[in-house]
Amino acid sequence: MKKIAFVGAGAMAEALVKGLIAAEHLPAKGIWLTNHANDARLQELHAAYGVTITRNQTDLLKDADVIILSMKPKDAEAALSSLKSANLNSKQIVVSILAGIHTSFLESYLPSNQPVVRAMPNTSATILEAATAVAAGVHAGSEDMKVVSSLFKTVGEAVEVEEEAMDAVTAISGSGPAYLYYMMEALEEASSQVGLDESVSKQLLIQTFKGAAKMLEQSDLTPAQLRANITSAGGTTAAGISVLEEQGVKAAIQACVKAAAARSKEMGQAFSK
Ligand SMILES: NC(=O)c1ccc[n+]([C@@H]2O[C@H](COP(=O)([O-])OP(=O)(O)OC[C@H]3O[C@@H](n4cnc5c(N)ncnc54)[C@H](OP(=O)(O)O)[C@@H]3O)[C@@H](O)[C@H]2O)c1
Repeated sequence: MKKIAFVGAGAMAEALVKGLIAAEHLPAKGIWLTNHANDARLQELHAAYGVTITRNQTDLLKDADVIILSMKPKDAEAALSSLKSANLNSKQIVVSILAGIHTSFLESYLPSNQPVVRAMPNTSATILEAATAVAAGVHAGSEDMKVVSSLFKTVGEAVEVEEEAMDAVTAISGSGPAYLYYMMEALEEASSQVGLDESVSKQLLIQTFKGAAKMLEQSDLTPAQLRANITSAGGTTAAGISVLEEQGVKAAIQACVKAAAARSKEMGQAFSK
């Protein structure tokens, strides 16, 4: 890969730039960025990473192997309309990280046969620990998918899914970090209620989350089995878990994920052709 062009230079574009450079996926000069109007932001990215910045769409897109759409969904139509007049060739892969927007909508603005891939990273991309799902549009082949997966693997893990799964992915791993922060927030508040110092509880909680995730990664056991293994009858964990059960916490989490998936679907419907 020689050139990647970002249309949109915000937080998620910067996270990907960081990952691509750290992984030496391509030289920094081969990463091109533009945005809507914020010149200072482009200068800042150039100074920090040595990337190429431009306001000229022809220069941006010329010979780009991959074009990443990284604006907010509300700005997608304006950006896509200007791409319509660009002379893209069918080897250039257009990757969208826009929440909720279906590949068929993107394809309707692009030349026929344009490979389009939809990706849903999450905010942990900023520390190169993203969980990303990628889904192929109708003209994206297996080689295109390999290129795009390897790009997102520079900022964490990447899995390939069918596009039908994207609302579920958005609800699980896209929004997932926020659910876990919510849980940590509750645990921090509870720590102080049982008399633990804030700095101590923060340290313990971070390591507890990391350790539990690593246990799941490194063992063949399911979360339910891991939990059962540390919940002895009449013990402290059993006392805590029984309250979660009484209060319907599992059902609340399931309702939370269903609501997020429904919202993702609804957002997508606003962008259908
Ligand atoms: N943040 C996350 O955790 C996350 C996770 C998964 C997916 N996403 C997706 O990532 C996308 C970007 O999110 P973000 O948080 O990086 O947004 P952001 O920080 O607000 O950045 C948006 C960028 O798009 C630019 N832009 C707006 N209209 C444009 C146009 N017509 N042409 C070119 N550039 C344009 C903006 O330029 P100006 O500054 O000049 O206006 C800005 O550089 C969103 O679609 C979001 O759904 C985000």
